[in-house]
Amino acid sequence: MSVTYEGMIFDEYISRTEIAEMVEHVAQQIAHDYADKEPVFICVLHGAMFFLTDLMRAFPFDCSVATVRLQSYEGTSSTGQVRESVPLQVDIRDKDVIVVEDIVDSGLSMHYFKRILQSRQPRSIKVAAMLFKPTALKFPDAKPDYCGREIPNKFVIGYGLDLNELARNLPSIYALRD
Ligand code: IMP
Ligand code: MG
Repeated sequence: MSVTYEGMIFDEYISRTEIAEMVEHVAQQIAHDYADKEPVFICVLHGAMFFLTDLMRAFPFDCSVATVRLQSYEGTSSTGQVRESVPLQVDIRDKDVIVVEDIVDSGLSMHYFKRILQSRQPRSIKVAAMLFKPTALKFPDAKPDYCGREIPNKFVIGYGLDLNELARNLPSIYALRD
């Protein structure tokens, strides 16, 4: 099946069934590592909201959730820096935090956000990304600790991922046709 946004054609790339398997796999890995730790899942809005809600429901131990919105653009140009446009509202000092991200691309967002979090003195910081584009990575410290799937350098939409704020509601993931 394919969909069209802004005149561009996207083909189904990761089905709902495959997404459910990816989520389950990541949840099991996190459950193995965090059974007694009561992690705080930090959902990076809005892209990770679908992944976060499914991931949390598949995590069988005590945990809590917080949200943040990150922005790297001021107007139309990238500042090369990332700020919290909707800041984190919880105190993470001495907590084990897991940043839940939709996709790690260049790694710029996670590189800066991990530094912001570090200054608030959590006990540990890990990143769980639904998708990861290893060939696009420019900041090695942003490599996700947990990842649903590695993909080539394709633009993808759906299941939270947007094209100019649209397409987040597609239940499966679609890739821009080459
Ligand atoms: P990074 O800072 O370059 O790693 O990019 C991370 C952010 O860019 C993600 O949180 C997404 O919001 C967005 N992004 C990167 N690749 C894609 C994509 O293929 N589709 C939709 N959004 C993307
Ligand atoms: Mg994002």
